[in-house]
Amino acid sequence: MRITIDEAIQLLNDGHVVAVPTETVYGLAASIQKPRAINTIFSLKKRPISNPLILHVANVEQILSYVEDFPDHFFDLAATFWPGPLTIVLKIKSNVIPEVARAGLDTMGFRVPSNEITQQILQSTGPLVMPSANLSGKPSATMAEHVELDFGESFPVVDGGKCERGLESTILYYHEGLWVILRLGSISPDRFRDMLGYTPQVIQKRQGETPLSPGQLFRHYAPKAKLILGDPSRFDECLHLIGFKDRSYSYEKIIFSLGNSNNPQEVAENLYFVLRQLDEENVPVAWVDMDFPKTGLWLSIRERLERAGE
Ligand code: TXA
Ligand code: MG
Repeated sequence: MRITIDEAIQLLNDGHVVAVPTETVYGLAASIQKPRAINTIFSLKKRPISNPLILHVANVEQILSYVEDFPDHFFDLAATFWPGPLTIVLKIKSNVIPEVARAGLDTMGFRVPSNEITQQILQSTGPLVMPSANLSGKPSATMAEHVELDFGESFPVVDGGKCERGLESTILYYHEGLWVILRLGSISPDRFRDMLGYTPQVIQKRQGETPLSPGQLFRHYAPKAKLILGDPSRFDECLHLIGFKDRSYSYEKIIFSLGNSNNPQEVAENLYFVLRQLDEENVPVAWVDMDFPKTGLWLSIRERLERAGE
């Protein structure tokens, strides 16, 4: 059900959960002051309670009261990338954030979104937790229609059209004296190099160890279809193919286009739309053209496809 910005503000202040657009993907929002609504987010999404949420704030000043010490370069990162698709995980003071929101950790991810609708809402409601507005494990929602498909026609959503970026925020964390990437996202790792003097490394899932980001433990971004990632020997076995509009493939294939192979931003915007289209059309198995660079935003696109295909 489409609601106005004012209705969203009212519902959030009354302790309800609503979906709102951000520049990355749609978010399922609850006020940080309403732990019961935060619990509802976990049950609506069927999200494991051990997977913490990101706190969204209108500006960096709103973070100051939660945090004691800020790591090197924090304020430079904030000034350069906020508002925008960057999440920064920081150690927080005890008892300033409800335990349910941070899955019991002593850290919290913070983000200042740039989307004008979200900004307007945040300025009235104060800080909001917001995971992506999809059922846990499914591709994220980049349109209001996707939210309604996952949570039902009557679920309240502010329609902001198609999300500008289409991929979640990049998550940074200061660990053992260096910034590291806990999740690849809309800002590619090389964009931090000038400021930090190095490109932050992506932290991989390590067997048997507690991951730095709990999200790494869970299945993600997956359509029902099985994806076959770029293996040429299996090309013939698939009728459906995820590929690029500027390339030619076999005429017998049904093609789902990610956009132009020299425009990673266009591909990022279309990625979840295409993955969801496979489900809508009950595609059992699809071959994916993985012939694209291993640099910049392509890294995030590749990672999402790999996890969708796991
Ligand atoms: O672009 C985005 O970040 C979107 C929009 C709505 O803002 N939000 C989003 O939230 O992607 P979610 O909950 O779908 O993904 C958050 C990820 C999870 O993988 C979680 O494990 C990780 O962030 N995370 C959250 N808090 C963390 C923390 N304190 N330490 C490590 N990882 C954390
Ligand atoms: Mg998510």
